[in-house]
Amino acid sequence: MPNTQRTVLALSPLLPPEMAKLETRFKTVRLYNESDPEKALQAVKNDVVGIISNPATPVRRGLIEALPNLEIVTQFGVGVDNIDFEATRERGIAVTNTPDVLTDDTADIAVSLLLSLSRRICEADMFVRVGKWGTTPMPLGVTPKGKTVGIVGLGRIGKAIAKRLVAFDMRVVYHGRKQKAELAWPFYSDLEKMAADCDYLVLACSGGPDTYHIVNARVLEALGPKGYLVNVARGSVVDEEALVDALVNKRIAGAGLDVYAHEPNVPDPLKTMDNVVLLPHIGSATVETRTIMGEIVLANLESHFSGKPLITKVA
Ligand code: NDP
Ligand code: DGY
Repeated sequence: MPNTQRTVLALSPLLPPEMAKLETRFKTVRLYNESDPEKALQAVKNDVVGIISNPATPVRRGLIEALPNLEIVTQFGVGVDNIDFEATRERGIAVTNTPDVLTDDTADIAVSLLLSLSRRICEADMFVRVGKWGTTPMPLGVTPKGKTVGIVGLGRIGKAIAKRLVAFDMRVVYHGRKQKAELAWPFYSDLEKMAADCDYLVLACSGGPDTYHIVNARVLEALGPKGYLVNVARGSVVDEEALVDALVNKRIAGAGLDVYAHEPNVPDPLKTMDNVVLLPHIGSATVETRTIMGEIVLANLESHFSGKPLITKVA
């Protein structure tokens, strides 16, 4: 069957040029544009052979079971904690993602958050805009130079963050599932212990049940009143209530967040704090990276339906 007769269900969009390419190559259902998505799904459920998803669109058992001819889920993103792998494996459904191409941009965002917190960048910007400059002194920041940063998850993004922070003369230590023999940076198997030894804790691990709330009240207490938390991983990695409590009660110095427990909802108390920098999940959000991510999604769909090996297979 030619691809133009195959139906792909887009739960979320690619950038417009890649959506246009998708539409010339496959029958495309833009579920995210439908006023009644359930009704739209019922109308095409037997035709759908591929899904385009992103980390914000759950691909759970209910959806998978509703699509009897589904063959492939192509994720527009690297993290795949929104996908039910038990359900995809049972049916032999392929899953692909977009690793590597977003590593540098996401690492840049982690470093931007760390620097923004340390040097009070957002606060200083506001200081100028509201006319405080010249009327009262701007509070001083702290230097990252010579400080210790603990990276949780020294994978592709974690390593790219480490590389950047070494250039800022920071000392790198890390926590993960196991020590990496090829790396000289000190490894901590105990996250709480690492937090106690760090000035900054930067989260770059994968989400999902294994990392759920590994940053809890005890870890934040260990990070201490001079310690900063940066999270570009997933909101689920942090106990968000404990984080708000630690910030309100000044048990940590500040937090820079790109991800949250219930996106796009951000706890209101965080929005009023000067020592918190809030980003709307923009780790990979550059034109260049989102374009190549879209191309990878298209290439995986094309490969799958022409019987070629997948470019970036997850499972
Ligand atoms: P990798 O697979 O290369 O790295 C994942 C890391 O997570 C590994 O270092 C792994 O440790 C660690 N990890 C896994 N399980 C645990 C655990 N139980 N405890 C501690 N560490 C653990 O993925 P990437 O670096 O490419 O991406 C990492 C994550 O970043 C993504 O899964 C996604 O959630 C997030 N992300 C966020 C973006 C944003 O926009 N904010 C953009 C892109 C990604 P080990 O090395 O020991 O295996
Ligand atoms: C990812 O790729 O996992 C990010 O969260 C979204 O780009």
